[in-house]
Amino acid sequence: MSTRRTLIRLLLLVFVVSAFIWTFGSHLPESWKDTGILAYPLSRANILRAQKQTNELYGLLYLVTTDSEENQHILADRVDLDPSEPIALEVYAAGNKALDWTAKTEEINSKYPVIVFSKTFCPFSKKAKELLTRYDLQPPPKIIEVDIRADSSTLKVLLTRLTHHSTFPNVIIRGKSIGGSDDLQALHKNHTLSDLLKEAGVSVQNKEVQ
Ligand SMILES: *[C@@H]1O[C@H](CO)[C@@H](O)[C@H](O)[C@H]1NC(C)=O
Repeated sequence: MSTRRTLIRLLLLVFVVSAFIWTFGSHLPESWKDTGILAYPLSRANILRAQKQTNELYGLLYLVTTDSEENQHILADRVDLDPSEPIALEVYAAGNKALDWTAKTEEINSKYPVIVFSKTFCPFSKKAKELLTRYDLQPPPKIIEVDIRADSSTLKVLLTRLTHHSTFPNVIIRGKSIGGSDDLQALHKNHTLSDLLKEAGVSVQNKEVQ
């Protein structure tokens, strides 16, 4: 009888502690979390925080548009990183937790409304880049040549997860993938590409393609 009571008390304790972590998990000291005992990705506070977060794709766009040799290693050197699972935005900013992502998102949208993830030797990428060049866009499209980057294999997995488009090129207009070369050509052929770009705040300087 007393063993049973002890067992019930123990279960109750486990329940109370779990409920506490679930509710207040994100407010616990960093050092506790680092022990790994309190790895609780599903705590309520974390879910709420994740919902408020900027779209993760902007983390990636931030990384590739503020490009430098060192930046390419932010993802490439993280052997513990699984790009097929959600990644915290600060990872894309080399651990900087103080970045104002709302402001960064706006900045990326206005400076780089068109971003093309390309591969240097890919004929479809070449075709898409040529078409966009004909439009003579202002601001011009930002071309990211993925195959010559140190983080190319990570970028491929990230793009597949974040844009649901797994091949190259991957054309991003204001943080949304419109697909690849065929999608771009189709929009061009039915004369909707120009309006789509203008809506995104891009000026089409070649009047002949409008
Ligand atoms: C133009 O083509 C795109 C891509 O195939 C399609 O999504 C869109 O509905 C078309 N628009 C018109 C007006 O035909």
